Amino acid sequence: MIRAQIKGVGHYLPENVVSNAHFEKTLETTSDWIVSRSGIERRHFAAEGETTSNLAAHAARAALADAGLEASDLDALIVATSTADLTFPSAATMVQHQIGMNNGFAFDVQAVCAGFVFALANANALIVSGQAKRVMVIGAETFSRIMDWSDRGTCVLFGDGAGALILEAGEGAGTSGDRGILSTDLNSDGSHRDILYVDGGVSTKTTGYLRMEGKEVFRHAVEKLAATATTAMDKAGVSAEDIDWVVPHQANIRIIKGTAKKMNVPMENVIVTVQDHGNTSAASIPLALSVGKASGKIKAGDLIVTEAIGGGLAWGAVVLRW
Ligand code: UT7
Repeated sequence: MIRAQIKGVGHYLPENVVSNAHFEKTLETTSDWIVSRSGIERRHFAAEGETTSNLAAHAARAALADAGLEASDLDALIVATSTADLTFPSAATMVQHQIGMNNGFAFDVQAVCAGFVFALANANALIVSGQAKRVMVIGAETFSRIMDWSDRGTCVLFGDGAGALILEAGEGAGTSGDRGILSTDLNSDGSHRDILYVDGGVSTKTTGYLRMEGKEVFRHAVEKLAATATTAMDKAGVSAEDIDWVVPHQANIRIIKGTAKKMNVPMENVIVTVQDHGNTSAASIPLALSVGKASGKIKAGDLIVTEAIGGGLAWGAVVLRW
């Protein structure tokens, strides 16, 4: 059977690194509070004029180099983002132009922090159904542009960045030993739309700021993430002992630890980057995959579970063999 196999990965982080101490100057907060409640120590913010598609294009070039491919070798490009440069065209078509990909098709997926998982599932469907052979999936965000800098409950948590993964059609035996995407599980429940949202948008002629009831989101997160990861693992026919790496959405170290515990996976088998990147929404998983590979942790043949939850609520998981 056809499997969507990983051919390359790359990431990009803006130059400007902002430590927790920065927020002590303008808000009633402390670095200790931020570290103890979220695990975040620093985050990157895009420079003036640097857009989501710019970050994504850098990550795309890094992934192409890793795969030894040219942009023209791709036949589809998907960008997961909630912070596209413009209302339209899609960030994906902007990236397509910037990397010199003049063929194929490109589109955005918007599922907030779960966006990369949703985009991966879409890429997998395109490949398995024979509609595309090589698909680049990018998660890219500039959440610094939708922060209310007077809201200490949100603005200390988010960061900017991009990560990219290239998938290619390959043959598999149809077993959990195959390389590539083994299973996907997607969910959303719009009845929770008001605990994490942006209070603006095109139709209201505003940009708006991110609003979050952190405690409420937290309450849903561990339970829903462990459930979707378990469902995806069941679909793939793998169990906790088989997992080499959990690569979770990087929102909060306490959510990451709680979910790993519920999944019966020890923290030694979890890739954690939240301390360095903050919450980069749809970019967090591809960033963690890229950093995990660059650090020598993620190797060919490793069994990986990714899981994410965000505004919507939307949540999901993907099981893949690197
Ligand atoms: O990526 C999308 C998904 N998003 C998430 O997964 C985020 C989920 N939520 C969280 O990560 C956590 O809920 C937070 C990190 C946002 C907050 O942690 P918490 O343990 O849930 O804290 P809390 O909301 O219960 O707030 C505790 C206290 C409050 O004060 P009172 O009401 O108890 O007096 C807050 O006002 O901490 C206060 N607080 C702060 N204090 C210092 C909130 N933000 C800050 C801050 N510095 N930056």
